[in-house]
Amino acid sequence: MPEADTNAKEKQYRPEVPQKMKPFPLKGAQSYDWGMKNRLARTFDPRSGRTVMLAVDHGYFQGPTTGLERIDLSIVPLIPYCDALFCTRGVLRSLIPPQSQKPMVLRASGGPSILKELSNEEIAMDMEDALRLNACGVGIQVFIGGEYETRSIHNMTRLVDLGMRHGMPVMGVTAVGKDMKRDAQYFRLACRMIAELGATYVKTYYVEEDFETVTASCPVPIVMAGGKKLSEIDALKMAYNAVISGAAGVDMGRNIFQSDDPVAMIQAVRAVVHKHTKPEHALELYQTLKEKHAGKRASAR
Ligand code: R5P
Repeated sequence: MPEADTNAKEKQYRPEVPQKMKPFPLKGAQSYDWGMKNRLARTFDPRSGRTVMLAVDHGYFQGPTTGLERIDLSIVPLIPYCDALFCTRGVLRSLIPPQSQKPMVLRASGGPSILKELSNEEIAMDMEDALRLNACGVGIQVFIGGEYETRSIHNMTRLVDLGMRHGMPVMGVTAVGKDMKRDAQYFRLACRMIAELGATYVKTYYVEEDFETVTASCPVPIVMAGGKKLSEIDALKMAYNAVISGAAGVDMGRNIFQSDDPVAMIQAVRAVVHKHTKPEHALELYQTLKEKHAGKRASAR
């Protein structure tokens, strides 16, 4: 029998206190429902409003990329240091331990290999499967100016409609063709179109000139893609400049997993993204951790 609520203690209705509700801090996300916001709050650290997402989806069009030959050996040890992992559902099911507490953002487009026209993509995952896999988001390429521009936009808008139905954030990725100019003018156009057509957040490349105009004119958060491998200091400078120019973090791959010490590098990137640590200091952190790891390996031999 449930007990009657006869507690003599005075009830704490507190009519004079307005109901408390923290505003949701992520750019452009105020109007979403609870499930969508909760997935976003797990992806973007609510303390800094930013994310260090680790991108390891490269195999979906280019096979076993350098550094991703054995995801079980090279990437699983990095998971504790990222805020979210961006991977394919195939890798998630086969290689990522389900005990992981980190949010998973799943690659949801695909089709052509690196041998063909890359913009000729389709949606490559059912939203129901993303939900079954407990994903915190899905990501899709959008080829503004590419041969199959309209198709890639329609792929994204279909995914956005499904995402809205199920509370699933959609990351629109600006995919730049080989011969296209990568400048602020192009990325302003691409990011703004992707946001206007409904993406919850946008992944794009950093450009040295006027990157702040790309973030300012995009009404939803931007995460910076890393691109080809740079020296550690240049990669840290790029992440730093992107964040101080308004990016809500990074979705970096090769500059982390192709580093000489990926565990040290991801921690240095974290310092830049979440604490605004200057790149030179983050590099010192990288070097200190790298030496420590080398010492441990030597004493284990
Ligand atoms: C996106 O198009 C790719 O599949 C990767 O997710 C993206 O390029 C990020 O990785 P990276 O930092 O290596 O460029």
